[in-house]
Amino acid sequence: MDAYVVIGNPIAHSKSPEIHAQFAAQTGQVLSYERLLAPLHGFADSVRTFIGQGGRGANVTLPFKLDAHALATRLTERARLAGAVNTLRFDGAEILGDNTDGAGLVADIVHNAGVALQGKRILLMGAGGASRGALLPLLEQRPGELVLVNRTAAKAQELAAQFTVYGNVAAAAYADLSGGFDVVVNATSASLDADVPPLPVAVFQPGTLAYDMMYGAQDTVFMQFAQRHGALARDGLGMLVEQAAEAFFLWRGVRPRTDEVFASLRRQLGRPDAART
Ligand code: ATR
Repeated sequence: MDAYVVIGNPIAHSKSPEIHAQFAAQTGQVLSYERLLAPLHGFADSVRTFIGQGGRGANVTLPFKLDAHALATRLTERARLAGAVNTLRFDGAEILGDNTDGAGLVADIVHNAGVALQGKRILLMGAGGASRGALLPLLEQRPGELVLVNRTAAKAQELAAQFTVYGNVAAAAYADLSGGFDVVVNATSASLDADVPPLPVAVFQPGTLAYDMMYGAQDTVFMQFAQRHGALARDGLGMLVEQAAEAFFLWRGVRPRTDEVFASLRRQLGRPDAART
């Protein structure tokens, strides 16, 4: 049986085995998918051992996405530009590194939330790994403008400069933001600390989609803030499921449906009223 794992440290919390088991059952693919705890300084060894046991692919989560990027013998363009890898595929001696996070974000916004991005004004908050991974897939949707904003403004400028060849992207500081945006994406880690980036409320206009890459049983503080100022808020649960679907497609060549998996994860999170999403 073709074997896959999700590798991280810690890893016990990962929902990926459940997601991929549902995808496999739904598409009739025969495979195994387990959690693999790698030592903090033992990522490459863990991967090589798994390949030696016949492993066909892996998802990679914290804190190993940079190690996976370094280990890959070939990178997709989106993984190269993201500077990080969340999906590995093993074919003989080749270790292909991909990054499906940004594609997952775009699929959730465009297909699940039904918000087209072409011609739109997008605000992307944060200049860390999450933002870097989202930039190419967002720009491929041909937004009218993508503004990258970060607390440390120099980091936003540096990152934006690397992506100007891919679309209309500009860097800004929070205090300099003006006008409303169609979509505001929170790719900062602020929600983990129950914090909200220092956003001027004028970024929100009626119908703005405020998207937080985080998810949980409750709305994040960013989602609450956005809703108070008239935006529609969405958490990152759909992105989680869609990035997994994209990895499944890379491995198996079959695109699973995501709606039922999304609904069952939402039920488990304890918020069955998924009406907003
Ligand atoms: P990740 O890999 O999740 O992107 P990261 O690389 O550590 O994590 O980046 C975290 C991002 O969240 C950074 O852009 C950080 O801003 P700085 O570069 O100024 O540090 C941003 N961030 C974290 N906490 C924040 C907060 N409370 N308000 C605004 N931005 C925050």
